[in-house]
Amino acid sequence: MKLIVLIILAVINLSPKPSFKKPEVLNRQINSTKQDAFSVLNRNCNFCHSNKKGRTVFTLKNMNDFAKAIEYQVFLKKKMPKGRKNKLTLTEEKMLRTWIDSLNKT
Ligand code: HEC
Repeated sequence: MKLIVLIILAVINLSPKPSFKKPEVLNRQINSTKQDAFSVLNRNCNFCHSNKKGRTVFTLKNMNDFAKAIEYQVFLKKKMPKGRKNKLTLTEEKMLRTWIDSLNKT
């Protein structure tokens, strides 16, 4: 019985998926790209970029305005995240990169 269920699931998974993307799907992708990038900023930057210290706090609302500055500091200058212990993982870098690239396209 279990085997049959597994086979059915496999067949469903293998059936061709439509290759075009509906607008709402694209929209969701953009939003999750931004959401991913925000989670990176919030986790790796905001503990230092806090109001208390008089620095820019990155939010979902303002982050697009800082995309260029973030690109400059993280990818060109490689100054941020500040501190040797605060390195971004490759995945986190990629999330930021993907988000910045998605802005440059529009
Ligand atoms: C350990 C503290 C610390 C961490 C972590 C950190 N920053 Fe910063 N950041 C600073 C300080 C301090 C400055 C002020 C300029 C300087 O000292 O170089 C700054 C300045 C900046 C600036 C330019 C000035 C501004 O406020 O607009 C950007 C952009 C920036 N950081 C982005 C980031 C990003 C993106 C991350 C995370 C990936 C990050 N920072 C993580 C401390 C930090």
